[in-house]
Amino acid sequence: MRDDVGDGSPFIEKELRRPSLTSVMPQIEPTQEGAQPMALSRRDFIRTAAAMGASLAWVGSARASRSNWRQSSAHYPQGVASGDPDAQSVILWTRRPYDGGDRHLLTVEVAEDGAFERVVANARTPVLANADWTARVLVGGLKPAHVYWFRFTDAEGNGSRIGRTITAPRDDDPRPVKFAFVSCQSVNEGKLNGYRRMIFEDERAVPAEQLGFVLHLGDFIYEVVEYPEEVPTRYDRTIYEVARIPDGGQTDKLHYPLTVEGYRAVYKGYLADPDLQDARARWPFVGMWDNHEFSWQGWQSIQRAGDDGRPGQTIKVAANQAWFEYIPARVKAPSGTLETFGPPALKNVAIEKWDENGLGDEPNNLAAINSLIGYRAVRYGRHLDLIITDQHSYRSKDPTEAPQLEKLGLPGFNGMFPESAMQVLDGGRSFNGGKPPAELTFGEVRVANPQKDAPPQTILGAEQKAWFKEKLKGSTATWKVWGNSLGSLDWRADPQNIPAGVTTQPWPAGYAILSSGDHGSAYVERKEIYGLVHDSRITGFAIVSGDRHSFWAGYASAALPPGKFEPVGLSFVGGSLASPGVMESYEHKLPKDLPTRALFLADRPDGAKPDWTFNMLLRHGVRSCLDYAKNFDLPRARSLSNAKLAPHLEFVDLGGHGYATVRLSANEMRTEFVCIPRPVTRSERADGGPLRYRVVHSAPLWAAGERPKLSVRVVEGDPGLSI
Ligand SMILES: [Fe+2]
Repeated sequence: MRDDVGDGSPFIEKELRRPSLTSVMPQIEPTQEGAQPMALSRRDFIRTAAAMGASLAWVGSARASRSNWRQSSAHYPQGVASGDPDAQSVILWTRRPYDGGDRHLLTVEVAEDGAFERVVANARTPVLANADWTARVLVGGLKPAHVYWFRFTDAEGNGSRIGRTITAPRDDDPRPVKFAFVSCQSVNEGKLNGYRRMIFEDERAVPAEQLGFVLHLGDFIYEVVEYPEEVPTRYDRTIYEVARIPDGGQTDKLHYPLTVEGYRAVYKGYLADPDLQDARARWPFVGMWDNHEFSWQGWQSIQRAGDDGRPGQTIKVAANQAWFEYIPARVKAPSGTLETFGPPALKNVAIEKWDENGLGDEPNNLAAINSLIGYRAVRYGRHLDLIITDQHSYRSKDPTEAPQLEKLGLPGFNGMFPESAMQVLDGGRSFNGGKPPAELTFGEVRVANPQKDAPPQTILGAEQKAWFKEKLKGSTATWKVWGNSLGSLDWRADPQNIPAGVTTQPWPAGYAILSSGDHGSAYVERKEIYGLVHDSRITGFAIVSGDRHSFWAGYASAALPPGKFEPVGLSFVGGSLASPGVMESYEHKLPKDLPTRALFLADRPDGAKPDWTFNMLLRHGVRSCLDYAKNFDLPRARSLSNAKLAPHLEFVDLGGHGYATVRLSANEMRTEFVCIPRPVTRSERADGGPLRYRVVHSAPLWAAGERPKLSVRVVEGDPGLSI
């Protein structure tokens, strides 16, 4: 049943989609020796660079550019980028394809000014055919919290566009920090007006309020690609040409890669987008993949896209290789260098043995998922430890896949699934103190418990989880922010309160959930992590996530009533930049005669666009929705709110697109949702088009033992039924 939550409730929608110093110790040409601004010595830096196998440049004193750079963007069709800044270094990226040869050299210049009159580093870096002509250079010796400009030039003087990047503040820097988090940028089905808005606002912000970096929480690409002549439109969308996938697979009209050339084609297609190029040229990105960088419904090394799936060890390696080539990040490739990936030679073989954590105990599987370790932590000033995890490479099998479970979804309830059954499935053999039921019962329905002998669900896997907990416990920053590509807030409704007569049979008892597959229903693992936060008296814990194609703000609590609601931190989900969300899907597909339609959409008597009562369902419950759909009186509907349903939620907009920013200081976390209209066509306005709304969620830092408390302020526009 797992699905890309973004496009419909997985419990009903089965449809497709929901979507050594080695390397050349590259002729370093510091402009001059000396002038090392940082405490960290050049020797230390070289050691760090060697560990990454980086091509590197070291900063010297400033002088005017001596390169013969003249901009020729056609030679650099994917632009430039930078990634993973720390307080003294950052990785710079470009792609310069050649027709012949397999290795060429570029010159990279780093300057303190956009005119390159104060160039502080100048080095050569190779581009290699076997890295698809991409280049990564680690530049060190930079000043902390400092803006730099960079550009690449080839032997003929063909120059890249100019990029801008920013180093991290020092660990003890007390100034507030600000970053954006984004996800889900399907340029196959939409446009990236969100980036244009982000750039527009950042250019006009005072320096202290500008973004330091962009955290990209995945679905940077969608590996499932539609071809416009096969699928001209979907929902409100025009299908745009992205790529043709060589030697790929196909399910229905979705084409997907099976080789590194296939994934590379998709990255190149995405990076043709001008707004994405502008964003990557303006800020350093810190990236983590979600599912679609490898496979829509895949997990570990199993590839699956709308079909039964297949062993995909070589496909996972291909996905990792392309990610490594196109997303500059402090990760270690099997080659031991930053120049090329060096894929291990593996076989696609079925996994037959699973260990006690659900990890596929098969050498090719283990080699594939470990060919690139993406999880890592970023320190950013005194106030931020950003701990980023991988939700797909190590996760256990989806506990909701057994076909008999469909019987637990009652007709007319649009995919609602009993929360009590999900708890049993998630707990596996550990449920009820190791005595799980042999059967799941719900009203009259009884089905075999498919998970009674299975390990409890894990999304992180044992090894990564141990690392994550260690990082969390050891953090000394004011705010410990978990960059988790998947949401962690429960999708819950109270169908037990639907009055008689609405549906043919009543909901037997208890709450329902409307989605699974993330930490919103990985109860055991969530409790383990939140329990650590609680028991270790960690304050300033917050989660930022994506994947759901919707905006959510609330609290990290292991349980909800009738369990103990005990928030230990804050939790946010950012809207998709472009990919369609569940409300768009429901506007097109939710049956008009569905008995519970009013819980999802309220049809206006005048035929205007329906209101999104689904937001109200999750936040306030069925009584509010049913009343609202009759009277369209928001205060009255909210007065019928079920206070026990969702104490974990302050805000939900299942139809919102855009991005979020986070500002962290010694005493406050401020998260802003910048929501744009459905990004169906590219706005030609400099600001990326109008806003739907801007909402600010602020929370003062709480003391150990206290509860976090968010206050929500609508700054502009109208968030509809989200509050
Ligand atoms: Fe997505």
